[in-house]
Amino acid sequence: MSNTNKGSNIWGGRFTKSLDPLAISFNASITFDYKLAYYDIWGSQVHAQMLGNQGIITQSEADKLISGLESIKNNVMQGTVTFSNELEDIHMNIENLLLKEVGDIAKKLHTARSRNDQVALDLRLYLRAEIKEIILLLENSIRSLKFCQQKYVNTLLPGYTHLQRAQPIKLENYFGAYISMFNRDISRLNDCLLRLNYCPLGAGALAGTELPIDREFVAEKLQFKGIIENTIDAVSDRDFVMEFSSVSSIIMTHLSRFSEDIIIWASEEFSFVKLDDAFATGSSLMPNKKNPDIPELIRGKCGRVFGNLVGILSVMKALPLGYNKDLQEDKECLFDTVDTIKACLQIFSPFLTSLSFQVENMQSATKNSFIWATKLLEELVKNNVPFRDAHECVGKIILYCIESNKNFATLNKKECDFFSPFLYSSILKIYY
Ligand code: ARG
Repeated sequence: MSNTNKGSNIWGGRFTKSLDPLAISFNASITFDYKLAYYDIWGSQVHAQMLGNQGIITQSEADKLISGLESIKNNVMQGTVTFSNELEDIHMNIENLLLKEVGDIAKKLHTARSRNDQVALDLRLYLRAEIKEIILLLENSIRSLKFCQQKYVNTLLPGYTHLQRAQPIKLENYFGAYISMFNRDISRLNDCLLRLNYCPLGAGALAGTELPIDREFVAEKLQFKGIIENTIDAVSDRDFVMEFSSVSSIIMTHLSRFSEDIIIWASEEFSFVKLDDAFATGSSLMPNKKNPDIPELIRGKCGRVFGNLVGILSVMKALPLGYNKDLQEDKECLFDTVDTIKACLQIFSPFLTSLSFQVENMQSATKNSFIWATKLLEELVKNNVPFRDAHECVGKIILYCIESNKNFATLNKKECDFFSPFLYSSILKIYY
């Protein structure tokens, strides 16, 4: 290509050279922002409709643009479109396809618009739809947890603090803890939606436009709550990406903590849960192995979601106000977070309901155990023994039991009376 060939640069006018091939591929985002195609087209259709309504272009021009975009949308959805690196991103690719579809009128589509407000719009539309899907997946996960609550009702197991047996808990309360977490996650996502749901289109590059556009019409048609008033903020803001990435990181911690418990519980040492063969894997070497790959992978995928959060925070932290090309780096981390969260939540429910919780093993772990010590202490307190004295007393009884190889249930009345006149009756109460 000669130096004076301006190639297909859409910014044409002031350039005397075409872009270096290395610069073309370095600059291009189409390899990932093709994911925005549907929203880009939808946004453009509404934009064209507005331009027509306002008399900025004629009504018939608007109609041609809209129907041209409609057929491109169908082709994109059917996967019959190939995008090109030379056209840099999804916005220019779609505009170019439109040029082929409807001819020169296509050149009017970008009136009163910049790719800066366009990409901000596409990203908001994309994320709004994805957040709604993630909320549905969380609701489904809550349903599965509730199903397990009913299936394992009244199952006692040891509750742990510091991963040491602490006090008996009910398995339904264990599941309930995750229901609470997921409910908070849903409310955080709804919060994201509230702040995200404003329309940046019409902000242009950053200073709006002198043309008589109707931003409210566009916002309403695209189901936004309203417009982003400040045009500089409209093109510069990626708070919604940071906020969603941080909410996603919290969701991943919840999924990961659950996964960690299941991994521990599935060990032979615990044997509190059996993995279903459909959700476990074997070893290529050791015939005895059954591995909890699914929860391990969920735990592992936290790394990328947390990394994506740090990625977007780092991209944003020193950006001069206004659009900067750095913002193109918001997409891959966002897309990866969305895909990862969805994949983890999609497998969570079938994985959870496939598990066989080993009720017998859980219950027997609560039997001959000092796990009832706090309850015993409280029985003594009910008998008016001061808390600190009761604590000391039960501590001494435990030491005695350990040294004489006994447990609470095998202590006789005489042994008990030595520690406290209320001990024997209290022990009978905690067990039976
Ligand atoms: N591909 C770009 C992005 O993802 C679109 C906006 C380009 N704007 C510009 N002024 N070069 O951010």
